[in-house]
This record gives sequence, C-alpha cells and structure tokens, in this order.
Amino acid sequence: MSEHNPFPGEKNSGHVWDDNLRELLNEPPTWWRIGFHASWIFVVLYTLMYPSWPLINTHFKGVMGWTSIEEYKQDMGAIEEIRAPFEDKIKTLSSADILADEELSNYVVRSAKVLFGDNCAACHGSGGQGNVNFPVLADDDWLYGGTITDIETTIAAGRQGMMTAHAAMLSTGEIDTLANAIIAGNIASEPLYAEKGCIGCHGADAKGMAMMGSANLTDGIWRFASADQLASVKYTIAHGVNDASDAQSRNAVMPVFGGGKLSDTEIKKLAVYVHKLGGGLQVADATEGATSSTP
Ligand code: HEC
Ligand code: HEC
Repeated sequence: MSEHNPFPGEKNSGHVWDDNLRELLNEPPTWWRIGFHASWIFVVLYTLMYPSWPLINTHFKGVMGWTSIEEYKQDMGAIEEIRAPFEDKIKTLSSADILADEELSNYVVRSAKVLFGDNCAACHGSGGQGNVNFPVLADDDWLYGGTITDIETTIAAGRQGMMTAHAAMLSTGEIDTLANAIIAGNIASEPLYAEKGCIGCHGADAKGMAMMGSANLTDGIWRFASADQLASVKYTIAHGVNDASDAQSRNAVMPVFGGGKLSDTEIKKLAVYVHKLGGGLQVADATEGATSSTP
C-alpha cells in the first residue's frame, strides 16, 4: 500500500501489491447487475409463494398454500379415477372373464407389472424368463398346467413337486441308462422306466402329469437346467425333489400367496399377467395337450 498512486488516471482504490497488482474500482457489467437483481427478486417472490422460511415451531407456508403431498394426492386421485372402472370390474369378475375381456386384460398387463416385480420376479425373473431352479413362466411348457385356472390355483395355493430319491433303489448303471434315455428323448420306450416305477408319476408317454407337476421328460425343456444336463438328470433321479429322506434332495417350493399374503384381486391379476406373458393355454388346448405332444 502506498500513499501516492503509481498509476494515476486509473480508477483504482490505491491499494497496490507487488508494485503493480492493484484493486480497480470498475462497476460490474450491466448484464451482471441485471442478473443479480433478477436473482434476488426471484428468490424473494419464490419464498413468498412457496413454503420456505423456517419459523420457531413451524415454517412459512407460502401465499399459494401449495404442498408437495397435496400435489401428489391430486395426481394419485386423477390416476385412481382412471383406474376405478377397471378395478371395480376386476373385483367382481373371475380371472377367466378378465382374460376374455381384451380391454381389461390389457389393463392388467400394464398395471400388474409392479405386483409381479415385488412378489415374483426375485425367483422367476423380471419377465418370467426363469432362473436356475425356478421355472420359466413365459413359455408354454407347464408343470402344473397353463390354463388361467391352473395358474390362479398355483399362485393362491402354492406348489411343491415331490419326486422320491432313487439312490438307494437303483444301481449307478441303471441311473445312467435312465438318464441317457431321457437326454436322448426316448425314455418312454426304455424298459427300466416302467420297471422302476417312474411311469407312475411321469405317465406312460413320459410327458408328465399336471396334477402332480411331474416334469415332461421328452421335450428337452429342463426344469432343472444345467450346463451339464446329463449330470443334472442323474442328480434328480438319485436324490429326487423335496424328498425329506434325502438330505441332498432338490428343493422346489412355490410359496402360497393366498390366505391373506395377497388379496384375491391381486392373485387374479397375477394369474392374468402370467397367462399373458406368452405361454398361457386355452382350456381346449390344455385338454388336447394332455394326450398329444407339446413341442
Ligand atoms: C421363493 C421363490 C418363488 C417366488 C417368490 C415365486 N415363485 Fe412361483 N415357483 C417357484 C418354484 C420353485 C416353482 C416350481 C415348483 C415345483 O417345481 O414344484 C414355481 C412355480 C410357479 C408356477 C407354475 C409353473 C408351471 O410350470 O406350472 C407359476 C405359475 C408360478 N410359480 C407363478 C408365480 C407367481 C405369479 C409368483 C408371484 C406372486 C411366484 N410364482 C412367486 C418359486 C417361486
Ligand atoms: C413320486 C412321483 C415321481 C416318481 C416316482 C418319479 N418322479 Fe421324476 N419327477 C417327479 C416330479 C413331481 C418332478 C418335478 C419336480 C418339480 O419340478 O417340482 C420330477 C422331475 C424329474 C426330472 C427332472 C426333469 C427336468 O426337467 O429337469 C427327472 C429327470 C425325473 N423326474 C426322472 C425320473 C425318473 C427317471 C424316475 C424313475 C426312476 C422318476 N423321475 C420317478 C415325480 C416323480
């Protein structure tokens, strides 16, 4: 700082550092000043209009009385109004009737996605594409039947396939023979198949029985899929499924969603949703499917 100004004629404050670094007294540019005033005017108006300043026990509510929760409620109200006619119908109709109504079933496809995501996707995948040891819901290969009523029963009451472990009843050679015949797709004509009692659960044609969820052994679609499918099949034959007497038995439990876990309406919606994932069967297809082949 010095008494006499080393840069006379310049608009500076007289503060100089390092001989030539000095503080100038220029006005800020006009565009900047306009911006500055516009900003604080905006802030004042905004805080007057909307809830803003904290007070001792409350806060300033704003002259418009706006709250985010009120806006949310109004938006939800508008959505409910659009949904109400659909929701009312769904409550009174059966799942089969909902499915038969194109407008309603399209509504369900759009609105039940979240329900499926919250309750089912963890096991069956977000699009019902299945996961290791959890069946695909988006194809037309069904363990327990794929009509709308079958699917609704599955969701409401749960499912738990039961196959006895055979490790103690069959030799390794017999397990090999059976497993190889299954992989080759000709298990029904393998003599051991009937001799060892597989036929009782998987049926004479080895296509499975929807009543007990015994898998179709002829279609190359695997309930317990694995990179080494032969090994997986041998494992299933040896240890069975949900057989409490074998500690290594496969676990396969579709939980019960009825009885209060989900409402009847939610279960109906999910049944329609799953049916519409792509593989749902008509009642006529299903009866036909029991005797003829499903590709
Ligand atoms: C904890 C995992 C789990 C959850 C959650 C779950 N599932 Fe399942 N689901 C299974 C298993 C395991 C099976 C196969 C049961 C068997 O093999 O006996 C199955 C079977 C099914 C089947 C029968 C498939 C067929 O081929 O017949 C349907 C339909 C189904 N689930 C729908 C649903 C829906 C809808 C939800 C949501 C409300 C759901 N699941 C939630 C595990 C689950
Ligand atoms: C008590 C009834 C029962 C008997 C007996 C039985 N199974 Fe099963 N089997 C089932 C059921 C039910 C499933 C499907 C389990 C599930 O997904 O929950 C199954 C599944 C299988 C699978 C898995 C198929 C896949 O897609 O991954 C194979 C392989 C199999 N059985 C072979 C056999 C053979 C071979 C025999 C005879 C030695 C046999 N089963 C006897 C009920 C039975």
